[in-house]
Amino acid sequence: MLRTHTCGELTEKNIGQTVTLCGWVDTVRDHGGLVFMDLRDRYGKTQLVRSGAVTDYKSEDCVQVTGTVRARPKGTENLKLVTGKIEVASDAVKVLSAGAPLPFEVQKSRQTNEDLRLQYRYLDLRNPDVQKNLFTRHRVCQTIRRVLDKRDFIEVETPILTKSTPEGARDYLVPSRVNQGEFFALPQSPQLFKQILMVSGFDRYFQIAKCFRDEDLRADRQPEFTQLDMEMSFLEEDDLFGVVEETLKEILKDTPGLSLKTPFPRLTYQEAMNRFGSDKPDLRFGMEIKEVGTMVGKSEFKIFEDVIAAGGGVVAGICLSGGGDISRKDIDGLIEFSKAEGASGLAYFKVTSASALDSPIAKFFPAVSQAELVNLFGAKPGDLLLLIADQKPKTLKVLGALRLHAAKWKNIIPGGVFNFSWVTDFPLFKYNEEEKRWDSEHHPFTAPNEADWKKFKPSGEFGKIRSRAYDLVLNGSEIASGSVRIHDEALQKEIFETIGLNAKEAAARFGFLLKAFEFGAPPHGGIALGIDRILAILLGLDSIREVIAFPKNQKAVCPMTGAPSPVSDRQLKELGIKIR
Ligand code: AMO
Repeated sequence: MLRTHTCGELTEKNIGQTVTLCGWVDTVRDHGGLVFMDLRDRYGKTQLVRSGAVTDYKSEDCVQVTGTVRARPKGTENLKLVTGKIEVASDAVKVLSAGAPLPFEVQKSRQTNEDLRLQYRYLDLRNPDVQKNLFTRHRVCQTIRRVLDKRDFIEVETPILTKSTPEGARDYLVPSRVNQGEFFALPQSPQLFKQILMVSGFDRYFQIAKCFRDEDLRADRQPEFTQLDMEMSFLEEDDLFGVVEETLKEILKDTPGLSLKTPFPRLTYQEAMNRFGSDKPDLRFGMEIKEVGTMVGKSEFKIFEDVIAAGGGVVAGICLSGGGDISRKDIDGLIEFSKAEGASGLAYFKVTSASALDSPIAKFFPAVSQAELVNLFGAKPGDLLLLIADQKPKTLKVLGALRLHAAKWKNIIPGGVFNFSWVTDFPLFKYNEEEKRWDSEHHPFTAPNEADWKKFKPSGEFGKIRSRAYDLVLNGSEIASGSVRIHDEALQKEIFETIGLNAKEAAARFGFLLKAFEFGAPPHGGIALGIDRILAILLGLDSIREVIAFPKNQKAVCPMTGAPSPVSDRQLKELGIKIR
C-alpha cells in the first residue's frame, strides 16, 4: 500500500511513529507560520501540521503525506474524532493528483442543487454524510444475506433480459439485434421466475434484485430500484411474516441499533381503511377515524341527514388534540385541503367542555348529541373535531389524508420511531372504470380467499372477494408487498378470464408459467421488500435517491452519464429500428 495507516486510525498509541497517509485534502487553515490540513479518506480524518506557509495543494487534491505522529497541544484536542488527540507533523506532502476547480464544496454537497450533485456524483459521494448511506446499505444487504442463509434461503439470480412481467407499470424494452423486430423487457420484478423456482423445488429463494419500471417518478420511486425478493413453498402467511420480521429485527439491531418488538401488529385492509383511512396507516400516532353513526340522527343538520338518507353515506371524523385554538385562516386551510382531496366540505367543532361544542353549526346539534360526540372521540376541552359526510370510501380517504396533514402541521408525529405493521386481506380485484372490467389489485398470481371465492364468484360479486395478499407498512409507507400464490392451473386460468385476459393472450404472456404449473406446482407464496425505501426511512432521508449510488433524477435521466442518449444510425440499422 502507498500508506502505512488510514486517516481514521491514528491515536495516542502511535505517538512518535513515522507514518504515511493517503487521501483527499478536506480543509486547509493557515494560522500564519503553521498550516493545518485535515486529510480525509473513507475511514476518517487526520489533522496534519506543517510549518511555513507553503500551500502547494488545495481542497480535494489527492495527496500522500509522510510525517511524525505527536500529541495535539492541550486544549486543542477534538474528542469527537478517533484521531482527535493526535496530529501528524509533516513537511512531505506529495500531490498524487491535483483537483480541478470544484463545482460545489464537498462538505456542503447536500445543500447543492440536486442535478449538479448527481452530475458530479463522484464528488458528492466523497461527502462522509452521503458515503454513510452507502455503507449502511452495504451493511443491511450483508445482514439480509446472513439471516436468510441461516434459514436455508438460496440466493438465485434471475434474468434481466426477459419477457414482460405482471406488475402493471410500463416496461423498459430492449431491442434484439439477433431477432429483429423483437424485444426483451427488463423485469419489473422477478415474480414469475421465483414462482418457477418453487416448481423446481428450491423451497426457499431470495434475491437482492434490480427491478425496472417506466412509471411517473416520485421521491420514493426510481425507474430502477432494488427489492429483497423472496419466495417460499409449503407456507402459510405466518411463516413468511416470521422470516421477514426476523430479518428486519436484525437489520434494525445492526443499523440504528434498535431492538424491535415482534410480531408486528396486523390489520386487515378493511380495518386499516376504517380506522386510518389508508391501506398504509401511519401508526406512530393515534387520531383514529370514528364513524359518528346514530348521533347525527338526532341532529337537525341537513347536510349530514341528507348524506345518510341517500344510502351508502356516512358521517365520520377525527379529533385533533389541542387544535381548538385554530384560527379562521387555518380552518379555511383545512377545508381547502379536504376539498382538494375530494370532499364537498368539512365540518369543525371546537371542544369547549366535557359535553359542549362550539361551531357555526353547533346549534343544529342538541346538547345530548354534542356530549355524545365529545365522548365518542374521547375529546378534551381545547381539542378540535373535524367531520366529513359523504359516501363511505370517499369519507375515509379524505379523513385519512386529513389525519396525516393535520398531524404533520401540528407536529405530533414522533421522530426516531420505526413503526411496522402488516396489512392483510386486500381485495382481490379492483374495478377499472375506464375499461369497464375487473383488474387484479396486486397481481394476477395472488390466491383468493377460498371461502370468498366460492361464495361470491358464482354471483359475479368480484368486489367482495378478499385475497391472500399482504403489505408491510413502515411509518405510513408501503415498504413491502406480497401474497400467497395460486398454484392450480385451472384457478389461474379462471382469474385470467375474470380480468379479461383471454386464453390466447394469457398463453402468449404467461404461458410458460401455466405450463410449469402442469408439472406438480407446490403451494407457495412470497414477498418483495423495497430496499431503497426501507433505507431512506431508517436513515430519515426524504428521497430514495440518497441511498442509491447512481440514481436517476426526477426526469428519469442520469445527469452524470447523460443516459439516456441518442445512438448512432449504424446501431439503429443493426437493430432494424427507425426513429419516428
Ligand atoms: P410491488 O410491485 O408491490 O410487488 O413491489 C414491492 C415493493 O417494491 C418497492 N417498489 C419501489 N421502490 C422504488 N421505486 C419504485 N418504482 C418501486 N416500485 C415498487 C416498494 C414495494 O412495496 N412481485 C411483487 C412482490 C410479490 O408479490 O412477491 C412486487 O414487485 O417498497
